[in-house]
Amino acid sequence: MAHEHPTSGVRAALPVVLDVVEVRRENDEMVTVFLARPDEAEAAAMGLALAEFVPGRFFMVWLPGLDEKPYAVSHLDDERVGLTVQRRGPFSTTLSGMAPGGKVGLRGPFGHGFWGVQKHGDGARVALIGGGCGTGVVAPMRAVLPKATVVQGARTAGVVLRLPGLGEQVIFTDDGTEGRKGFPTEWLGEQLQAGGLDAVYTCGPEAMMVGVVSLCREAGVECQVCMERYMKCGIGVCGQCECDGRRVCVEGPAFSAEELAEMPSFGRRRRDKSGRMITLDACPSGPKEPTTENTESTENGSNP
Ligand SMILES: Cc1cc2nc3c(=O)[nH]c(=O)nc-3n(C[C@H](O)[C@H](O)[C@H](O)COP(=O)(O)OP(=O)(O)OC[C@H]3O[C@@H](n4cnc5c(N)ncnc54)[C@H](O)[C@@H]3O)c2cc1C
Ligand code: FES
Repeated sequence: MAHEHPTSGVRAALPVVLDVVEVRRENDEMVTVFLARPDEAEAAAMGLALAEFVPGRFFMVWLPGLDEKPYAVSHLDDERVGLTVQRRGPFSTTLSGMAPGGKVGLRGPFGHGFWGVQKHGDGARVALIGGGCGTGVVAPMRAVLPKATVVQGARTAGVVLRLPGLGEQVIFTDDGTEGRKGFPTEWLGEQLQAGGLDAVYTCGPEAMMVGVVSLCREAGVECQVCMERYMKCGIGVCGQCECDGRRVCVEGPAFSAEELAEMPSFGRRRRDKSGRMITLDACPSGPKEPTTENTESTENGSNP
């Protein structure tokens, strides 16, 4: 591996149940669910001490009687832990519909977040590129790299994410209803050509990240991506999130461009919730949803 695994312990056992204190509507599809931060000792054990928090790691979020799914922390302060949730299916819709006083279980942290970030100082030569709810995943990087440029790609104005922690952003929309019309890769190409960047951290639709990685590789600039795969156990046991021999829940979800060079499925294939491999239409010029599905079954193809 090109980097070391985190030394902080993984708390794979019982979820810590936290109170919902606020649910803030962010745009047409996303809300941020703010949870009361646990006491200092518990927060430290959960990797939520302010000085220890590693953006890109994730928690298994438990809604009693429904399910448990992975989410990244998009906001952390002395009092609250924020999860920015995009409504997609039953779980995210229920989580988005929580109200103050509700209870949410958090188990973790899991996985390997962005690393080596401190060497970039205030981040003046760093870009944080987000798309969709992935913009929430890169948001806490701004606290570590206050001068980094945040670039966001969104389908349309109604789904642009404006978390306060993101500060000023360069916004692209596919339909031109806000910011520049097009994709963040256009901005990135210009910046790389001008020699203005030392590193890029990104999370969003895989097609966008494929474009980001490819441009950074060409320019010889460091790049890390936070990858999403359908997860079940979150601790490396079930194989559901496996990508070319790497378990995204353990070896990732953050990977370097060098690691991704050994992962040909990046941008091309992932397993759906039943464990079947589905293909992704990886056009580097812009984000696309999964388009075709085959019937290749896997040894991990059990239903959730
Ligand atoms: C490490 C990690 C961190 C994550 N962090 C966040 C986060 O911060 N915020 C957040 O909202 N989600 C996050 N997710 C995704 C989250 O875990 C759920 O998969 C998501 O909320 C959908 O769950 P659901 O049960 O509501 O929908 P499902 O029933 O699983 O899916 C509903 C529909 O949405 C589609 N769908 C599901 N996922 C995607 C996708 N990625 N792209 C396109 N279509 C999709 C499905 O194909 C299906 O058609 C993260 C996932 C991982 C692996
Ligand atoms: S979810 Fe990664 S191995 Fe089970």
